Amino acid sequence: MAFNRTLITAALPYANGPVHIGHLAGVYIPADIYARYLRLKGKEVMFVCGSDEHGVPVTIRARKEGITTQQVVDRYHELIKRSFAEFGVSFDIYSRTTSPTHHQFAADYFRKMYEDGQFVEETSEQFYDPETGHFLTDRNIRGECPRCHSLGAYGDQCEKCGATLSPDELINPYNAETGNPLAKKATKHWYLPLDQYQAWLEDWILNNHKEWRPNVYGQCKSWLDGGLKPRAVTRDLDWGIPVPVEGAEGKVLYVWFDAPIGYISNTIELCRQQPEKYGDWQKWWKDKDTRMIHFIGKDNIVFHCIVFPAMLKAQGYNLPDNVPSNEFLNLEGDKISTSRNWAVWLNEYLDDFPGKQDVLRYVLTANAPETKDNDFTWADFQARNNNELVAIYGNFINRALVLTGKYFEGRVPACGEMTDYDKEVIAQITSYKSQIESLLDAFRFRDAQKEAMNLARIGNKYLADTEPWKLAKTDMNRTSTVLHIALQIAANLAIAFEPFLPFSSEKLKNMLQLGATIGWNELGRMDILPEGQQLGEVSLLFEKIEDSAIKHQLDRLERIKTENEAAAKAEALKNWRPEPVKEPTTIDDFDKMDIRVATVLECTNVKKSDRLLQFKLDDGMGGRTILSGIAQSYPDPSVLIGKQVLFIANFPPRKMMGIESQGMILSAVDADGRLIVVTPSSPAHPGAAVG
Ligand code: 2FM
Ligand code: ZN
Repeated sequence: MAFNRTLITAALPYANGPVHIGHLAGVYIPADIYARYLRLKGKEVMFVCGSDEHGVPVTIRARKEGITTQQVVDRYHELIKRSFAEFGVSFDIYSRTTSPTHHQFAADYFRKMYEDGQFVEETSEQFYDPETGHFLTDRNIRGECPRCHSLGAYGDQCEKCGATLSPDELINPYNAETGNPLAKKATKHWYLPLDQYQAWLEDWILNNHKEWRPNVYGQCKSWLDGGLKPRAVTRDLDWGIPVPVEGAEGKVLYVWFDAPIGYISNTIELCRQQPEKYGDWQKWWKDKDTRMIHFIGKDNIVFHCIVFPAMLKAQGYNLPDNVPSNEFLNLEGDKISTSRNWAVWLNEYLDDFPGKQDVLRYVLTANAPETKDNDFTWADFQARNNNELVAIYGNFINRALVLTGKYFEGRVPACGEMTDYDKEVIAQITSYKSQIESLLDAFRFRDAQKEAMNLARIGNKYLADTEPWKLAKTDMNRTSTVLHIALQIAANLAIAFEPFLPFSSEKLKNMLQLGATIGWNELGRMDILPEGQQLGEVSLLFEKIEDSAIKHQLDRLERIKTENEAAAKAEALKNWRPEPVKEPTTIDDFDKMDIRVATVLECTNVKKSDRLLQFKLDDGMGGRTILSGIAQSYPDPSVLIGKQVLFIANFPPRKMMGIESQGMILSAVDADGRLIVVTPSSPAHPGAAVG
């Protein structure tokens, strides 16, 4: 590790809602582990983040909550900032893109690129609401899907059939908010000509950054293989940073142009606040001795590996050395979603599990979606806490400290003669430093934490094998040596776990009375605690999590699922339209169908089928059996007994589930998908023909 100065950035979260476990697992915990690790090693680090307060997501939230956009960003900026602090995410600055420093700097950055001729201007026809006088973003345009013809598809995607769309493809596009039909109007925008950076980006990434994670490298390669096109960096919106050039009234910088510049503005703000500690901001962005690492989620890869580097290159800034990006974390098998409230919100977690920040940090790192999407389950959360943190790490620490209290009045006992087994254990412990380091240096946080836990496993096994509680009855010298070694292992654990579990390390350091000077460089040493040192007060490092606490969380998710299903149904009903009328046909075709009336004599579920009902009908012709796939719509089939139905009498018999069905019962398909049996408006003779 030759470098000394590292600038670490973590993606600026949109200030449109609280932060959840997906945010922590994807970006902020790995970034924090890395920042803490480098600081512990004595490196010069700046860890920068802040709220992304422009863009459509915040304006959508404002409309949803019926408050102003400013109120939304104020509310969520504070909430997000507090959550990060509560979880120990150790940013050196957490600012916001509505800050005056950022507005000024981002506008200047644009102006500079504009003056240097680094944009292309283009006028094009865009969708416009003549009623409100606004241009619309893709997400705010809805209409009929050209593929599946469902209504209410978005300008960028149809959620019904999954098709990726552009607003131009929608049939009868309208303003999602007002419902107004749209017109087209010419508007001018500034584009970053990414095509001009193609060759340089190919060389920089594909040839010189083969060490990037495969998911990051692969996404970049596929963008580059597809051929880069100019990208608009301005928008017709009234929320954002005004475009600072003539002829751009009513236009703002595209949020993805201004947000990454926020990393620079926030650096400037911090350097202004603490010049003696951080020096001149340019040192962090232009000095070749500074390494930059962007921590992001996979949906941000193109912006951090292609668009922002092109902007940085254009103005002579440093480029990122690495862009560790995680995949997504799911929750109980389903995609985490802010709008569907399918998430574990950090503020709510702390209400339910006060003081247990490290448990969540541990579980999210143990399960980090580093190479593929992963799932958070409450059962796994409980198991990792109870079986690993409590049973291994906590148990070892507690035994070592309690026994030292019991036999040596809480003072570090002397190390006597060591056995071969002691030496073997010590050799293992000393090898951990380089193992954990090489994993952390490669951004493999999950494996690094696993190694720290393996260190605790060694300690736990050492006490189980040596049994000092038994030794104390016969051999106090040996007990002293064993506990001396155990306490040195405990000190090693406080250091090894510090980047991952900062709160527990703090607590353990207090119990061991470890001085502030003890850092990463002491890891692997077996003389961290001097003989005779008085230990502090002992308490449990971790506590068991009971089934009832887990049930409470699962019940909450179950309630949310039910609410979401009801909301999805209501939404589907709102958008429902009768199916289009089929191709024209003739009376001759209709006459071929022999439709009759029958009375239901029996109606029961078909065994082993959740779809079929078996009808025994009086059809006026000696009776018949018909199977119909409507069981889901009639949870109690007996309600149909005595009713009259219409059926097609001249279909050839068909066997289903071993039963012969002699025709087809007519049903209507209602808007919510329920099948409703059609009956005559007044009783008719069984067998009467319909025509
Ligand atoms: O995806 C997001 O949440 C964006 N707000 C990330 C922005 S990262 C950076 F560019 F600021
Ligand atoms: Zn569709």
